[in-house]
Amino acid sequence: MIEEIESKVKEVLDFSSQDSGEIEKFRIKFLGKKGHISRYFSEFKKVDVSQKKEFGKAINKLKLVANNKLEELKKSLTKDSSNNSGNIDLTRPANLIELGSRHPISIIRDKIIDIFYKIGFNTSEGPEIEDDWHNFTALNLPFHHPARDMQDTFFIKKDPDLLLRTHTSSVQIRHMEDNDPPIRTISPGRVYRNEDISARSHCFFHQIEGLYIDKNVSFSDLKQTLLYFIKELFGKSKIRLRPSYFPFTEPSAEVDIYWGLNSETDFRITKGTGWLEIMGCGMVDPNVLDNCKIDSNKYTGFAFGMGIERIAMLLYQIEDIRILYDNDIRFNNQFRDSI
Ligand code: PHE
Repeated sequence: MIEEIESKVKEVLDFSSQDSGEIEKFRIKFLGKKGHISRYFSEFKKVDVSQKKEFGKAINKLKLVANNKLEELKKSLTKDSSNNSGNIDLTRPANLIELGSRHPISIIRDKIIDIFYKIGFNTSEGPEIEDDWHNFTALNLPFHHPARDMQDTFFIKKDPDLLLRTHTSSVQIRHMEDNDPPIRTISPGRVYRNEDISARSHCFFHQIEGLYIDKNVSFSDLKQTLLYFIKELFGKSKIRLRPSYFPFTEPSAEVDIYWGLNSETDFRITKGTGWLEIMGCGMVDPNVLDNCKIDSNKYTGFAFGMGIERIAMLLYQIEDIRILYDNDIRFNNQFRDSI
């Protein structure tokens, strides 16, 4: 038996490899749980007392030699791989990290916020998942009101209803509930409607709505505010207000801007009229104020709302709304200089 151990010592000393798989096999063979060394240790118990001393010495030697060998092999392996790093060309230029750009929707949103900020409007935000009260009922749209069909709604849960907000007017309700007049706020955000996806419409888009509540706010204040905004954003100075209907405003109007007919594109996008519909607006219905615990005998206000995509498409001459949601960096980067 002692001779056998001596021959294993020789085997260990003679072993050499640069292959990590081979080295692992070597470790298992000698130092593993079922390897030679642990086998010899279990046989040690059965060895005659007279031989125990010599036998123990031999096993301990084998163990020491095997451990040293393993250390040595591992060291030479890591040294070798660090040698490999010498082959890396440190002067080679790195792969460039492409620099992104703001998304056109963010650019337009911030521009609009900025324009209203100059005349004292702050910004307010609210949740995209809304309850029935903030998206409909408080906005003068009680449960069976036919105008609920004006905006095809994605419902999440029934009784009590949870839904994806169909407009950011819900944020205005929240803002009126939490703040006392005077109120001047702009609410940008994403909204959802169950509409077919095409070049001109999508099942989600972005809106920006405005709200102004104070004593003696009149329709002429609304018109002047919109005129200021349109001059700042589009550089145009002619608007017209066409009577319209929204449940939460009375009277309500659709705002058209005079775009002009100076090019073929102007003809196409205005259908030959020169006018472009750009947003909805109106005087806040007294019921809405009362719903938000604002005294409608004391206060009046106006509200307006528009789609950001539509404005981005107009200003940047984008023909298909879907391209705005691709997030293709080659597309987004085109707007870098317009910030
Ligand atoms: N909330 C309306 C919509 O989504 C827009 C609007 C806002 C109209 C405020 C009038 C006043 O279509």
